[in-house]
Amino acid sequence: MSCAVRTEGLRKEFPMGWFRGRVLALEGLDMEVQRGEVFGLLGPNGSGKSTAMKMILGLLRPTSGRAEVCGYRAGTIAARRQIGFLPENPYFPNFLSGAELVRYYGRLSGMGGALLEKRILELLELVRLGGEAGKRPLRTYSKGMLQRAGLAGAMVGDPEILMLDEPTAGVDPAGSREIRDLILELRGRGKTVIFSSHLLEQVEDVADRVIILHRGQKLREGRLEELLTRKKEWEVNVQGLKEEDRKELRGWLEKRGAQVMREGAPRERLEDYFLRSLPEEKRR
Ligand SMILES: Nc1ncnc2c1ncn2[C@@H]1O[C@H](COP(=O)(O)OP(=O)(O)OP(=O)(O)O)[C@@H](O)[C@H]1O
Ligand SMILES: [Mg+2]
Repeated sequence: MSCAVRTEGLRKEFPMGWFRGRVLALEGLDMEVQRGEVFGLLGPNGSGKSTAMKMILGLLRPTSGRAEVCGYRAGTIAARRQIGFLPENPYFPNFLSGAELVRYYGRLSGMGGALLEKRILELLELVRLGGEAGKRPLRTYSKGMLQRAGLAGAMVGDPEILMLDEPTAGVDPAGSREIRDLILELRGRGKTVIFSSHLLEQVEDVADRVIILHRGQKLREGRLEELLTRKKEWEVNVQGLKEEDRKELRGWLEKRGAQVMREGAPRERLEDYFLRSLPEEKRR
């Protein structure tokens, strides 16, 4: 399999003004996505997912490091031609219909004529906006419909790689399943899909491999099932335990074959965050 996307030491700092220093949004990301793979970028808000994507697209210039798309340097026309992009909060001209939106993107990527019209019909059908739905203005669309229209727009030029930034954000479970099925459909057609999410359950049965980002750093990388069963490790949290009780607990655990790795203040277990996918208000 040839390489689709590759980054090396990709780093982004945002200057915050003269006195406020800089925000480190992404810290030396190494990532390699193979052609035909569905790849998930997983991480909480502000972990650097969108920043990574924008640098791969060439929409942001890295502070250091490099990104390549099918061997071309990110941001070059040759690299951009390979990618269809669905941004995280797409703003579409809402007077356009779904079909007009896809046509607009098609024209931008140099298509036209009967071929484009055929493609529009095919794509609207694929994202389940065929028939009347595709003729309605976008302002009448639900969030899920808008995401699917955007997805059709991203696919119009038949790119090899689809980059979808939180394609299921704000979409209900049924809508999310539809988008997941679309991603699988794309994989079936041999496309490479890179998508981001902050919810593990939206990644787990779609992505072949994932990178878990946290505060701009790569925490984990690999096949999700391996990451989730990586180790059988338990954390026992108890409070206000007397010394002798603590010893007894330790003895009890050891008698059962457990190896007590450490005792003391609870350790921050970032991956638990993902396992539980806490609601927004509890996330920070
Ligand atoms: N243009 C910018 N100027 C300054 N800081 C920025 C800018 N864009 C992003 N950041 C900062 O970089 C960090 C990473 O942001 P990024 O948008 O990549 O995160 P994310 O993982 O996509 O988050 P979310 O899940 O909220 O979309 C955050 O701390 C953010 O505040
Ligand atoms: Mg983002």
